[in-house]
Amino acid sequence: MSKRAKTAGTSSAGPRGRRSAPPAGKAFVWTKRHLLGLDELSAVEITHILDTAESFREVSTRSIKKVPALRGKVVVNLFFEDSTRTRMSFSLAASRLSADVLDFSAKGSSVAKGETLRDTARNIEAMGIDTVVVRHSQSGAPHMLARCLDASVINAGDGQHEHPTQALLDMFTIRRRLGGLAGKRVAIVGDIAHSRVARSNIIGLRKLGAEVVVVGPPTLVPSAIRSMGCEISHSLDEVLGEVDVINMLRIQFERFGSNLFPSVREYANIYGLNAERLRRARRDVLVMHPGPINRGLEMTSDVADGPNSAILQQVANGMAVRMAALFLVNQGDQA
Ligand code: NCD
Repeated sequence: MSKRAKTAGTSSAGPRGRRSAPPAGKAFVWTKRHLLGLDELSAVEITHILDTAESFREVSTRSIKKVPALRGKVVVNLFFEDSTRTRMSFSLAASRLSADVLDFSAKGSSVAKGETLRDTARNIEAMGIDTVVVRHSQSGAPHMLARCLDASVINAGDGQHEHPTQALLDMFTIRRRLGGLAGKRVAIVGDIAHSRVARSNIIGLRKLGAEVVVVGPPTLVPSAIRSMGCEISHSLDEVLGEVDVINMLRIQFERFGSNLFPSVREYANIYGLNAERLRRARRDVLVMHPGPINRGLEMTSDVADGPNSAILQQVANGMAVRMAALFLVNQGDQA
């Protein structure tokens, strides 16, 4: 029996620290010990995370922004790639749940002396960690950790594979702003080929009944992506007027092996979101971006900071979603 299975069930406290029976009709019980990708979750499980995030959202509006849900638990952030939002958001989310948080950065650690990911993680775990939040350039790194550690593992972005909490916060934001996901039409625009955000979004949105059209130049939109249940377009202008959401992705220059489009200016002209293009979109279209934005490339500043933009709401909602993720994996007892 796993360490977790032995202790599971010792806490029946809800997200706000109150002990309560599940409300009628909501008998779903979360069992997963890890959050590795949306591919491994059912529509019911994804909805449960979003609903749990909804109940945590209110905590961030209190003057004392803390609940005792993970008191006595230890969360470590294990980041082998750069991050601003995701890392801070996980740290704050864990603190708001009253967990102790340890921040590990590959830079300045023994990884620089050649220590393997597995050895680093096992040594950290020997310090009694309950949850490992990992970001790594290698696809599958969180899955490997999940196999060799007793702790829960949350994927904070693995290579070009998945970034489940980003997709969950994107879906949470759409659901809040548009009232639901089923039947909504979402354009994901830009560097689809290198994007774990695109992959997780496509998987999650499709599972919850949204339509997805990915948009970008052929060099950045692999045709195989169609097999994930989305449409492909190479013209932003053609899809502009028919979508409820435009999620603009960053051009990930750091992942390019070679130049995949002729010039940055040409890309901005054809695929950039500017005020003129926005006028041709639905009046209430939701503009999103996972950040960091290359202003002037993916979108102009007036659009990024304008009334249709949900970009800062995405960041705020990320806190609630990560609180939900941390809370739930600590309740789970199954791989
Ligand atoms: C994304 C990431 O790291 O995959 N950013 C994020 O988590 N906010 C997307 C990106 O870096 O472009």
